[in-house]
Amino acid sequence: MPLIHECVVTTLSPEGRPHIAPLGLIEEDDYWIAAPFRPSSTLFNLAQHPKLTASFTDDARIFAGLVVGRRNWPLTDIEGWPAPRLSAALAHAQLVVIRVEEHESRPRFFCRVKRIESHRPFLGMNRARAAVLEAAILATRLDMLSPEKIESEIAYLQIAIDKTAGEAEREAWEMVIAKIEGYKDRAKIPVTR
Ligand SMILES: Cc1cc2nc3c(=O)[nH]c(=O)nc-3n(C[C@H](O)[C@H](O)[C@H](O)COP(=O)(O)O)c2cc1C
Repeated sequence: MPLIHECVVTTLSPEGRPHIAPLGLIEEDDYWIAAPFRPSSTLFNLAQHPKLTASFTDDARIFAGLVVGRRNWPLTDIEGWPAPRLSAALAHAQLVVIRVEEHESRPRFFCRVKRIESHRPFLGMNRARAAVLEAAILATRLDMLSPEKIESEIAYLQIAIDKTAGEAEREAWEMVIAKIEGYKDRAKIPVTR
């Protein structure tokens, strides 16, 4: 299996308006591949505009916020490049789509990395941030998972939150949990937490 870089991708609408979404970019041979599901703004934009920016951040609140619909994260323009980066990015990559592999549900946009730039130091791995990332991905797939699977995954991830989260990670965790609980309420799934 190839390495997947979990990041926040900026794509551009046909009018040039930036759109940000969490995405896993797949590193395969000399390509980084964006594989957004249909339908999504990211997919629509990539089909129109071949330049994108990947922002690498350790702020779990941004991943959590984006999956609960908080989109107003500050962006910073990049000189000579149309798609801005997250202002909070530790680093960013500028990518160009070279070719597209069409697919009914999940086309693959094969990109070349044109430039990578660092902005702040990376201060190490953290289990709670990884747990928020896992929960955020899970929160985008709730209708595909059984209530038991959702329950057991969250119970496991909660351990890393309890042991290693700082304030930002707790805030991020609460955002994702609120989304999951809301889904359970609507789907009439008993809440056991
Ligand atoms: C860490 C993370 C990685 C994700 N990776 C993908 C991905 O590779 N492909 C995808 O379609 N959705 C992925 N998602 C879900 C999208 O962010 C989500 O579907 C989002 O709404 C994109 O839709 P939009 O472009 O309309 O905003 C990921 C979510 C998270 C939290």
